Amino acid sequence: MNPFTSSTLECYLTCPRGLEEVTAKDISPHCKNVKTGSGGVSFKGDLQTLYTVNLYSRTGMFALVKLLEFTADNQKDLYYQIADYPWYEWINHDDTFSIRSRVFSKHFTDSNFVTLKVKDAIVDRIRQKTKRRPDVDKDNPRYSLFVFIHEDKVSVFLNSSGSSLSKRGYRQKIHKAAINEALAAGLILLSGWEPGKPFYDPMCGSGTLPIEAAMIGRNIPGGNYRKSYTFKGWKNFDPRLWNLVVRESREKIRNDKLHIFGSDNMGANVDMAKRNARQILIHTHIKFAKKEFEDFTPESSGGTILMNPPYGERIGEEKELESLYQLIGSVLKQNCVNNDAFIFSGNKELTKLIGLKSQRNYVLKNGKIDCRLLHYPIREGNYVD
Ligand SMILES: C[S@@+](CC[C@H](N)C(=O)[O-])C[C@H]1O[C@@H](n2cnc3c(N)ncnc32)[C@H](O)[C@@H]1O
Repeated sequence: MNPFTSSTLECYLTCPRGLEEVTAKDISPHCKNVKTGSGGVSFKGDLQTLYTVNLYSRTGMFALVKLLEFTADNQKDLYYQIADYPWYEWINHDDTFSIRSRVFSKHFTDSNFVTLKVKDAIVDRIRQKTKRRPDVDKDNPRYSLFVFIHEDKVSVFLNSSGSSLSKRGYRQKIHKAAINEALAAGLILLSGWEPGKPFYDPMCGSGTLPIEAAMIGRNIPGGNYRKSYTFKGWKNFDPRLWNLVVRESREKIRNDKLHIFGSDNMGANVDMAKRNARQILIHTHIKFAKKEFEDFTPESSGGTILMNPPYGERIGEEKELESLYQLIGSVLKQNCVNNDAFIFSGNKELTKLIGLKSQRNYVLKNGKIDCRLLHYPIREGNYVD
């Protein structure tokens, strides 16, 4: 498919694993044929749809346009099928491009080798046709290609986003164990928090969860503060259409009163969270405070408590963390009745120490780490394991 002449684009929006359903629901109002896959969601639409998904998606990482799909089980076949595609129709010799490959296959085991083969095939084809060749630019290419190989199924995509859409642009500094913005937004959407109700993150680190909650609460699109998207450098970029999509999104931003609270026991983290929120002028919608978790009490009932306690990579911190997870259980039981608590953690043994029965358990990936989001509805006199 030529992405610059086709009226319907077949696209794939990647997302953190475990957020496929949430991602599909989030973009469904903006596009057609939304179907969940593994680690992403496929959808169809035109250029406006592509711009809209890039701007609005909260949980997506890369919005990709499908170029070709074929089967190959050896490098020669891979080379010839890639070279068969008319790259010269839209990549000029003076354009730059980059390739990233992800390979899960017994036929192709080295993703660097796949990248090299695909690059050779593209360059050879363009040179054969035009006598000149485009250059590779890994940092700032005009066209960024993704190659996925699953066994013998090869798919090649054009990345319309550039860097991951999770990079909203508000985080100046982050906690070393911060979760990315797409995952944070996804956890909030999974929790079912309703913006009129209180939202608490009593271990807020760099403030990602409260800031994402405030953006959801005010209906600010995920990409509202982001300047760069690769599609803006494409030869068919339509600034009027993009400005229209942006203008429409800004008209939908609300200024309702929100009840969002973030706290942490380290002053430096609270300062960092405040700075990040101020970066996008959303700090007036969030109350940040330095507070020990043992002193945490929600202001009222009916709220959502969502937190991402440390789950430990350093040797020697196990004992400390065991006490912290026990403390989480007792504070929730004693201080948080009639609120819904959600704990996001990558350590099953530690979450057992919370000592409460979870009602739901969502399986997710944080990068390569298997994680769980556990839902504890805290009600009077129950839930002890
Ligand atoms: C994994 S980090 C949270 C990262 C955060 N979600 C973000 O995206 O930046 C865990 C946070 O819990 C805080 N914390 C640990 N023990 C605490 C306690 N007893 N009371 C309050 N905060 C605590 C740490 O200071 C750290 O900022």
